[in-house]
Amino acid sequence: MSYKNFPMVPRVIFGRGSFNQLNDILEPKRLNSKAPFIFLVDDVFKNNAWLTSRIPLAYDDRIIYISAAEEPKTSQVDELVEDIILTTKERPSGIIGIGGGTLLDLAKAVSIMLTNEGEAKDYQGWDLVKNEAVYHVGIPTISGTGAEVSRTTVLTGPEKKLGINSDYTPFDQVVLDSELTQDVPKEQWFYTGMDCYIHCIESLEGSYLNAFSQSYGEKAFDLCKEIFLDNNLSEVESQEKLMMASWHGGMSIAYSQVGVAHAMSYGLAYLLGTKHGIGNCIVFDHLEEFYPEGVKLFKEMKAKHNIKLPQGICADLTDADFDIMIKVSLGMAPLWENALGKNWKNIMTPEKLKSLYQKM
Ligand SMILES: [Fe+2]
Repeated sequence: MSYKNFPMVPRVIFGRGSFNQLNDILEPKRLNSKAPFIFLVDDVFKNNAWLTSRIPLAYDDRIIYISAAEEPKTSQVDELVEDIILTTKERPSGIIGIGGGTLLDLAKAVSIMLTNEGEAKDYQGWDLVKNEAVYHVGIPTISGTGAEVSRTTVLTGPEKKLGINSDYTPFDQVVLDSELTQDVPKEQWFYTGMDCYIHCIESLEGSYLNAFSQSYGEKAFDLCKEIFLDNNLSEVESQEKLMMASWHGGMSIAYSQVGVAHAMSYGLAYLLGTKHGIGNCIVFDHLEEFYPEGVKLFKEMKAKHNIKLPQGICADLTDADFDIMIKVSLGMAPLWENALGKNWKNIMTPEKLKSLYQKM
């Protein structure tokens, strides 16, 4: 047995208003005294001076606004990298992602592709990255995905939706300022928060579980219950706790895996472009058979916050469409093995998977 030796985020700043210290954090990292920092920022903040006026810009530093309406793509990473190479005279000092999972994953991928040849799709998989990435910083503005701590950056490519999993993927620095999450719309807050909750259930109920994953998973699970069920937290407490739940949920799956909901929602995302948080919710709602307790609590949370999930998203799909989703989903072997054990192929046959998708 050989154990995996994982890197972790080496530096993190936590606290309300810590975003104001960004200049102090970045300036010592500036290369050749003037190489630029590139800020990838969710375009919902485009005219939001409260946030953007505090992004410290000097020399040729740039903000690139990016829509998170669609899941990040390998082609999008390649375009961003080309644009950055063409418009900056030297290798950037750093890439800073400000936003949710999409922006954080784009920042990670762009920082990797600035120092590695070829296209982003060539690196989808495990440990394919050869060179250390450019210094990269993650600043979440919504909590739940765990992208701020994870060792992957999940991208949709021409053939698959799969992460660039590598030792060079994790951020060099994360800024956890819960104030940045204060304007997240309720639905988005719920879907993304449930991504974290589902990470906990899939990790804690999985066959890969170990004390490392369990300790983080249980903490994140308790925080999720406090936030989404108990309802006796102030707004600020709730935002801070969800930020830490996301962190712990991400740490929990680092040393285990996710499960059925993620494997199935990857299929939905690939075929229909369903975004990760809502896709996980749509799937998880129908998974009583695999996660009875977890789904029961999920339904309570959904009712409590008056969330109506889309229905019938697979109603008009053809057999060929189902085949594509099934292929993508069953391709996630480690997720299925974690969820259902070594004999998962006997349990989750293509027919069984199709019958599950047909409920959605
Ligand atoms: Fe997730």
